[in-house]
Amino acid sequence: MLYRAPRGTSDILPKEQAYWRYIEQKVAEIARLYGYERLDAPVFEDTGLFARSVGEDTDIVTKEMYTFEDRSGSSLTLRPEGTAPVCRAYLEHGLYNLPQPVRLYYIASIFRYERPQAGRYRQHYQFGYEAIGDDDPALDAEIIDMAWQFLLSVKLRSLSLQLNSIGCQKCRPKYVAALKAHYAKHANDLCPECKTRLGRNPLRLLDCKKPSCRQIANSAPKSIDYLCHECDEHFNRLKGYLKILSLPYAVNHHLVRGLDYYTRTVFEIQPEGGGTQSTIVGGGRYDDLIGELGGKPTPAIGFAAGIERIILNLKKQNVAVPPLPKPQVFIAYLGEEAKEGALKLASSLRQTGIGVTKALGSKSLKAQLRQANSLGAAYAVIIGEQELKAGTVILRDMSSAEQETIPARELAGRLASLHS
Ligand code: HAM
Repeated sequence: MLYRAPRGTSDILPKEQAYWRYIEQKVAEIARLYGYERLDAPVFEDTGLFARSVGEDTDIVTKEMYTFEDRSGSSLTLRPEGTAPVCRAYLEHGLYNLPQPVRLYYIASIFRYERPQAGRYRQHYQFGYEAIGDDDPALDAEIIDMAWQFLLSVKLRSLSLQLNSIGCQKCRPKYVAALKAHYAKHANDLCPECKTRLGRNPLRLLDCKKPSCRQIANSAPKSIDYLCHECDEHFNRLKGYLKILSLPYAVNHHLVRGLDYYTRTVFEIQPEGGGTQSTIVGGGRYDDLIGELGGKPTPAIGFAAGIERIILNLKKQNVAVPPLPKPQVFIAYLGEEAKEGALKLASSLRQTGIGVTKALGSKSLKAQLRQANSLGAAYAVIIGEQELKAGTVILRDMSSAEQETIPARELAGRLASLHS
């Protein structure tokens, strides 16, 4: 073998596709139920879009982006997340002229140069929902409700919903200063990475999983104690709405998220007992992002979920997903003349909407039926020289092995009635 899929990527083989279809259908169904429309953005964007939105000092921008120059020297980046492209498209196509908020969703491949491990890949797939153009905390509740209802609809259980508010431009500087002062007192006990974070991105210190850093985080000031009046009210109203919707959230004072664009509400959903590595859903408000990308200040909120991580959890929880449809009919034949008849028959059946897989070559009837069986075909149609002359076919029910001879012209009607 000369080549393998690049490290951190994988092929989604036919036997895995039932999980993917199951999730994609639920994504579209939740979108329908809540009134979200699909938007597909390009796989790559100007590098500046992500540097500006995700944040120059984040792990994603400093070490994880797949950035390249194209032949004209433009710097492009394979999307490392889906929110910034949606905001760029919102501005580029004047979606602010539509009634607000604009409710959008996507299913997209995402690229991050991370250290691959279970549930962490260099190419993975996310779906996300974004609601742009309203700051009502009821919209935050709608988005969180969608994430929760989605996971219930795919039948995942034992989930934990974590919530926090990290304030706005007005109140966050005071909080960050208090956080810095707290961590400065313990600077000697911080891990090397957190020592550099202290100067650049102090909020992320709360996120560190090293035991010594965790201990310092436990006594750190909490963002919700520093919220301005407006942010405090927003958070309280959101919590009220979540209670009305019976969503079982827990406020997590250490929840800050790994992208810089968040304001006010942030939330994550994890399987109970799982760490950050197993986070399935992440999201929050990003009220300043559209403004930073050159638009008028426009509040917005959204979330994204990793499809591979959902599938890992479906398997862990033994959730059975509906199988994909098998071929309806397998056509077997005996002899060269019958082969030509089979070719014509397959073509005319397909034109009436019946799915047909046809035998090839000159295998024995036994071998052909074995193939029909392993493909999971419901029926086999058998043609030999004799049937060809008589204008008949043999119709075989693959599960009962019962077979009967019927006129060829009645076949399409019979198969259609058997299928419905
Ligand atoms: P994120 O938390 O970076 O947020 O990613 C969202 C989800 O994608 C994660 O919760 C996880 O399930 C999955 N994920 C992330 N990285 C990987 C990886 N390397 N391998 C497998 N799965 C992964 C965002 O990207 C934001 N754009 C979410 C958002 C939407 N915020 C507002 N709107």
